[in-house]
This record gives sequence, C-alpha cells and structure tokens, in this order.
Amino acid sequence: MMRKLLWVAACVIVVCALAVASIFFGAFEKSVVAGDVDEPLTADAMAALAERGAYVAVAADCYACHTAKGGAPWAGGLPFETPFGTIYATNISPDKDNGIGGWSRAEFHRAVRDGVGKNGHLYPAMPYASYRKMTPEDVDAVYAYLMTREPMKVANKANALSFPFNIRRGLTFWNLVNLSGDTQAEVAERSAAWNRGRYLTDALAHCGECHTPRNALQGMKADAYLKGADIEGVHAPDLTKAGLQRMGFGPHVLSAFMKSGLSAQGGMTGQMFEVVHFSTQYMTTDDLDALSAYLFDLDALPADEMTPEMSEPAAVDAELSAAAKPAYLSLCSGCHGVEGQGIPHVVVPLSTNASLRLTNARNLIRVVLDGIPAQRFPGLERMQPMPGFAAELTDRQVADLVNWLRRKWGGQEADIGPQEVGQLRHGLETASAGR
Ligand code: HEC
Ligand code: HEC
Ligand code: HEC
Repeated sequence: MMRKLLWVAACVIVVCALAVASIFFGAFEKSVVAGDVDEPLTADAMAALAERGAYVAVAADCYACHTAKGGAPWAGGLPFETPFGTIYATNISPDKDNGIGGWSRAEFHRAVRDGVGKNGHLYPAMPYASYRKMTPEDVDAVYAYLMTREPMKVANKANALSFPFNIRRGLTFWNLVNLSGDTQAEVAERSAAWNRGRYLTDALAHCGECHTPRNALQGMKADAYLKGADIEGVHAPDLTKAGLQRMGFGPHVLSAFMKSGLSAQGGMTGQMFEVVHFSTQYMTTDDLDALSAYLFDLDALPADEMTPEMSEPAAVDAELSAAAKPAYLSLCSGCHGVEGQGIPHVVVPLSTNASLRLTNARNLIRVVLDGIPAQRFPGLERMQPMPGFAAELTDRQVADLVNWLRRKWGGQEADIGPQEVGQLRHGLETASAGR
C-alpha cells in the first residue's frame, strides 16, 4: 500500500515538473505573429511604409520610453522602477551593434507583439501585452520608419533585477497567465470610428497599461478594464464612460483635451502630461475623435456636446469651513481665485477641476504636497509652476483643505483623514530621499 502511494506521489511530482519545464521552455507560448513576416520587405516597400510608420510610432509613444531624458534619440536608457528591480529601455535605433540594425522583420514583429526579443523574452515594462493587438501592417510601418533613423552608438544598460526575476525565460509563466492568444477583430455592428478608437485605446496608445488595475502578478485585470489604477503614487483615473462623466468630461471636451492637455477640468500632469506631450497632441483630429467616441461608447461624436452626469457641488458644514477656508484664502486663492475660477492661460480653475471629483483623493493630496513644475503645453500655452505645501501644512490641515475642496466644488464626501495624508507624505519623503 505504502509503495503504491509512493509511486503515485512520484508520478505526480514528475508530471508537475514536466509541466513546469514545458511552460518554462515555451511549449505553451502562443505567437500572434504569422509566418509571412519571414519574408523580408523590399527596399521599395520599406521606403513606402516609413512615413506612415512615423505616425504609428508617435501614436504608440515608442520614442518617450526609448529615449533617456537628455539622451540620444531612440538610444534607450530610460529606467523603469519595478518592485523587482530596475529595467532599462533598450536602443532601438538601427545601429548594428547596440540597436536593431541587424534585426529581421520577423524578429521585430516577435519582439513588439509576442514580447520575445532577439536576445530573449522581454519584460512587460515594454507594453507588448497591448501591442499584441497591433496590426502586422502597423508593425511593418514602424519597422520601416525606425530603419530610417540615425544609428546611435549607445550601449544598452544592463537591468538590475533580483533573482529569480532576472531569468528572462521565467516570463513564459507571466505570458501564459496574462497574455491573450487572440488579436482584436473588428466589431461589425459598430462604426469604423468606434473600431478605430478601440484600436487606438487598446493597441497603439495602450491607455490600459496605466488606467487598468493590475492583478497580483502585475497583469492587467480584464474584468476591471480602464477602471482606474494607482501607479507610482498617483491615481490614473477611471476612463470608462461613467468615470469620464464623473470627472466632468463630455466627448468633445475629451478629444480637445488629448490634443491640448488643457481643459476646464484641469491640465495634464505627471505621466499623463508626457503622454500628451509625446503622443496624443500629434494625433489627427479624426483619431482623437475616434478615441473619445470609443471611450464614451458612441459610434460618432454627437453634434452637440453631452452634459456630463456628475455630482453637484455640495454644502460644506460650518466646522470644516472654519478649519479650511482661511488656508485656502491665504495660500491658494491668490492664484486659483476666491471662487476657484483660475486665471485664463496662467492658472487652471479649481471649481471645475477633475481631481476634486474623483472618489480617490490621492492626486489632489499629492498636488497640495508636491506642487507642479512649470509646464509648456501644445501651442503657446504654458502654466506657471505651482508650489508644494508639504512644509507649510500639517497632515490635519491638508486633510481639512482637501475635504473642503472636494465637498465645495466636487460634491464628494469629506472623509479624508490625516493618516491618509501622512502615508502619501511619507511616500513622498522616501521617493525624494532616493533622488
Ligand atoms: C512604456 C515604455 C515602452 C514603450 C511605450 C515602448 N517600449 Fe519598447 N521596450 C521598453 C523596455 C523597458 C524594453 C526593454 C525590456 C527588457 O529589457 O526586457 C523594451 C524593449 C523593446 C525592444 C527589444 C529590443 C532589444 O534589444 O531586445 C524592441 C524591439 C522595442 N522595445 C520596440 C518598441 C516599439 C517599436 C515601440 C512602439 C511601438 C516600443 N518599443 C514602445 C519600453 C517601452
Ligand atoms: C504612462 C501611463 C499612462 C498612459 C499610457 C495613459 N495615461 Fe492617462 N493618466 C495617467 C496618470 C498617472 C493620470 C493622473 C495624472 C495626475 O493627475 O497626476 C492620468 C490622467 C488621465 C486623465 C484625467 C486628466 C486629469 O485632468 O486628471 C485622462 C482623461 C486620461 N488620463 C486619459 C488617457 C487616455 C485616453 C489614454 C490613452 C490614449 C491615457 N490616458 C494613457 C497615466 C497614463
Ligand atoms: C503660484 C500659484 C499657485 C498657488 C499659490 C497654488 N496653485 Fe494650484 N495650480 C497652479 C497652477 C499654475 C496649476 C496648473 C498647473 C499645470 O496644470 O501645469 C495648478 C493646479 C492645481 C490643481 C489641479 C491639478 C490637476 O491635476 O489638474 C489643484 C487641485 C491645485 N492646483 C490646488 C491648489 C491648492 C489647494 C492650493 C493652495 C494650497 C494651490 N493650488 C495653490 C498654481 C498655483
């Protein structure tokens, strides 16, 4: 009896070990790249594709990640901090030694859509989970465009990851759990604009990489698609129709906002400012309208702007007013105005600001603590810097001020406590200590 049990246990262990090994060696990997890309593109085809590739690369925001701040264009080196260590974006200029100059068409397709580079599996900091949905034509176009860039002799930086995360093959497990085998098919019942908007949102502009919450394995949660996620101390808000309306956006305003980075709902800040700066400001009006139509689940933008369904400003109780209003009047109103009206072209209004209407108060607290550096927006718009008030205000004072703002102009509950401010302040201190 004992012997038999031992045999069964041994068999189970062997089967499990074989399963783990076969995942590790890629037996379950699902490539979405078709075999026809093994055929190289002709020089004529490359030349014809390059111009469109420039647009695709901008819409997909490749440059922003693959160029270090102040570094050579396309030469990589931008660091990505993850819980497991630092990953550096690579040189994708056509340099033969350091970049992708020696990469075939097929190798490039596999890297962008399957996340398997010429030198092994890629970490999902490279958003292949989204680019997987790119069309082969668009990937060809980007390939052709990159090959027209100037080759940069800049060596790649080695990633600094702890064991076992430094084993690239281990990503076969991540891919098995988090990658879908399907590409995105057009939905026949919906308009061409809606389908284009979905393609921009999910594939090229990869909005979900930041706005969809992640599971314990850091994969995007399919059942919470675009419902908002915390990234690097801020909240990338809910982009579903309900979420956008709550922030006060209508479809026309959203489309214009993705072009200019400015609206009555506020200015783009932080990582979102960079998305507008490097990518969406260059999208065509048709593409921005399609993006907005899709996010509002419309087949086309309506003739007239929709009035968003959002919470109305609410009455503030006297005690909270007494605690917070003097601070607002002395510290904030000089720029934002007594009625929160702002100063056109210089300071954004607060009475209509999206960050006061989010259920999550994180962005508002961070802005009060950290301030915002001076930013230049597309066109000639520019905003003056906003100072941070971390040194002037206690956690209690920040909480009161934030509650007062959220209640008065955002119609939210006044439920932020000093401990929440303290946690964010602490995160702020550890982050700046490392800088
Ligand atoms: C959000 C940041 C980000 C964006 C956007 C991005 N990449 Fe990457 N990419 C990375 C990182 C990080 C790596 C390195 C991953 C690693 O070391 O495993 C990488 C690796 C690659 C590689 C593999 C290079 C090599 O030497 O192995 C290629 C090819 C590539 N990216 C192409 C692109 C293209 C084309 C686009 C636009 C369509 C793009 N990337 C957009 C972050 C990004
Ligand atoms: C690299 C990460 C990243 C990507 C990609 C990204 N976002 Fe964001 N987005 C953010 C963050 C972070 C915020 C919150 C900014 C803040 O308030 O500090 C934000 C805020 C926003 C806001 C609210 C702006 C406001 O005034 O608070 C909208 C609308 C938005 N994003 C739309 C989009 C759309 C549409 C896409 C795809 C085209 C997209 N984002 C892609 C990170 C990202
Ligand atoms: C010196 C002028 C100045 C002062 C003082 C100031 N702000 Fe600002 N604030 C700005 C400017 C300018 C912006 C827009 C920056 C941008 O979007 O680039 C801004 C933006 C904001 C935003 C919107 C952030 C977003 O994501 O859209 C909030 C909220 C805010 N301020 C709150 C406050 C509060 C609360 C105070 C007082 C404690 C304050 N500000 C004091 C200039 C100021």
